[in-house]
Amino acid sequence: MASSSSNIDLSGPSFCVVSGASQGIGRAIAVEVAKCLGPNSLMLLLARKKQELAVTASLCESEKVKVTYNSVDLSTASEEQMMDILKQALSGRKVTDFETGLIFHNVGSLGNLAVETARMENIPELRKYYDLNVFKVISLNTQFLKLFEEVEDRVVIVNITSLCAIKPMGGMAYYCSGKAAREMYFRVLAEEKKHIKVLNYSPGPVETAMIDNVLEEAINDNLRDVFTSFKNQGTLLKPEVTAKKCMKVLLSGKFLPGEHVDYFDDE
Ligand SMILES: NC(=O)c1ccc[n+]([C@@H]2O[C@H](COP(=O)([O-])OP(=O)(O)OC[C@H]3O[C@@H](n4cnc5c(N)ncnc54)[C@H](OP(=O)(O)O)[C@@H]3O)[C@@H](O)[C@H]2O)c1
Repeated sequence: MASSSSNIDLSGPSFCVVSGASQGIGRAIAVEVAKCLGPNSLMLLLARKKQELAVTASLCESEKVKVTYNSVDLSTASEEQMMDILKQALSGRKVTDFETGLIFHNVGSLGNLAVETARMENIPELRKYYDLNVFKVISLNTQFLKLFEEVEDRVVIVNITSLCAIKPMGGMAYYCSGKAAREMYFRVLAEEKKHIKVLNYSPGPVETAMIDNVLEEAINDNLRDVFTSFKNQGTLLKPEVTAKKCMKVLLSGKFLPGEHVDYFDDE
């Protein structure tokens, strides 16, 4: 990890968005970030499963933090819809009321694990994958930046990335290429906007539904072996463990603009 810039102070009122907050890492991040937010903070949780969002919201809600959630398919939401959702969550307050505008781009999916990389030709399917994992992430981030335009220096962005963004993993061409494109977008943004804090956090292998999906769907033997041994050897991290580390890295501010910081990196 890079040497220190300044700490990130969330002790004032913050407006915080978490995508993919209905389960797994997103839920754990929402819970951890809620503990760090100052009085008069607002959180907005996004995903499709409404009941699960309500569960996350109840885990985050406190005297200091008011939580709203919106059931939305982020693979198809229009830019207007995203902006409406963000504005609605502000509940009549102005962005200038908040000392920090924080967004966690956690939403993600695996893509097709049953196609060989040398036989990828279903472009509509690939496009759908990129819609959710890349294009609409960029769109949501853009709406967030537009919302905070007048106080852009208060924006803090965390992209939940993966080792797969920087290291090829056989059998995961959709996932690796999507994660790489998404991470590079945030790195370029950080390069241009030095006054915005941007972190690419890679959570390590985490015990979530995503891991079960790999074991159910993967046709690549090596991929299955890697994930089977993660599972059997008990080396998968609990979502709350990696979420705590994410917050620790974020609050320390010890990362370069857009830096890829992994759970296993030295502190
Ligand atoms: N688990 C790991 O080992 C691991 C490792 C490295 C990186 N990551 C990354 O961490 C992030 C979270 O992964 P996870 O393991 O927690 O996965 P997960 O349990 O499958 O959670 C994915 C989240 O994304 C939401 N989502 C999926 N499709 C959506 C859509 N069309 N519209 C809105 N929300 C949608 C899901 O909610 P709904 O179904 O309710 O919509 C869910 O809340 C992902 O970006 C993943 O790539 C995970």
